[in-house]
Amino acid sequence: MEQSSRPKVITGNWKMYKTIEEGKDFVTQLIPLVQNSPAKVYLAVPFTAIYSLAKEAENSPVTIGAQNMNDASEGAFTGEVAGKMLKEAGAKFVLLGHSERRRLFKEDNFFINRKVKRALQVGLQPVLCVGETKEEREEGRTEEVIQAQLKEGLDGIGSELLKNLMVAYEPVWAIGTGLNADPEIVQSVHQFCRQFLRELLTEEIANQLIIQYGGSVSLSNAKNYLKEPDIDGLLIGGASLSLESFSQIVNDSIHKL
Ligand code: PGA
Repeated sequence: MEQSSRPKVITGNWKMYKTIEEGKDFVTQLIPLVQNSPAKVYLAVPFTAIYSLAKEAENSPVTIGAQNMNDASEGAFTGEVAGKMLKEAGAKFVLLGHSERRRLFKEDNFFINRKVKRALQVGLQPVLCVGETKEEREEGRTEEVIQAQLKEGLDGIGSELLKNLMVAYEPVWAIGTGLNADPEIVQSVHQFCRQFLRELLTEEIANQLIIQYGGSVSLSNAKNYLKEPDIDGLLIGGASLSLESFSQIVNDSIHKL
C-alpha cells in the first residue's frame, strides 16, 4: 500500500490533565474546527472524562479513547480499570505501554502483551507505544529494544486480529523534553518497525498499519514529520492541551495528504 493511502491519525494524549468540564469545553470547540479534516482525530483522555466526552463527540470526527487499562477482565484489583468498562464508557481505543507507564509503573512487555490481547477481546483499538531511552540510543540498541517491544508486546496474537493495531514510536528522551527527534531519524525507525512487522504479521497488514511519532511535537515541527513516507500520524502530549495548537496541527496535516 502506498503511503498516501494510509490516513493520517493525530492523537492528543492529555495525560493527567483536564477535568470533565474542561474536557467538554475543549471538545465542543474542537469539533467544528476539525470538521473538514481528512486526518483522523483521536483524544486519549483521563478515565473520568471518557463517558462525557464520548457522548459529546458522538457523530463527530473526534474519537475518544483511554490512556491505559488493566489486563484482567475484572477482579479484585483496587484502583484499576478494565477494558470492558472503557468500552462501555465509549472509548474506542486505548494507549498501551506508554513510556510513562513503563517507567513510573514498571510495566513490562509481557504485561503490555496481556493488555493488547484484552483490548482486542473487548473491541478496543490498541495503540502500542514503543521507544528507546537515551542510554539505549547511545549504546546503539534502539532497533534491538524496539524489536523486543514489538515482538513481545504482540506475541501470540494472530495477524488478522492486529489489522486495527496502531503503533506509536516515542523515544523516551524526546517525551516532554522539548528535544524532538529529527524527522529523518524517526523515518528510519518507522521504516525499521514496518519492515519488522512485515515479518511478524503479514506484508499487507504491515503496509496498512498506522505508525505515529510522539515526543515534543509542536505546531512548529509537526509538519516536518508528516512529510516522511512512514510517519502516518502524531501522538501529542503537551501541545494537545491547547485547542489552538492541537487544532492547527490537525488542520496543517491536511496539506500533507
Ligand atoms: P509530549 O508527550 O508531546 O508532551 O512530549 C508525548 C507523549 O507522551 O505521548
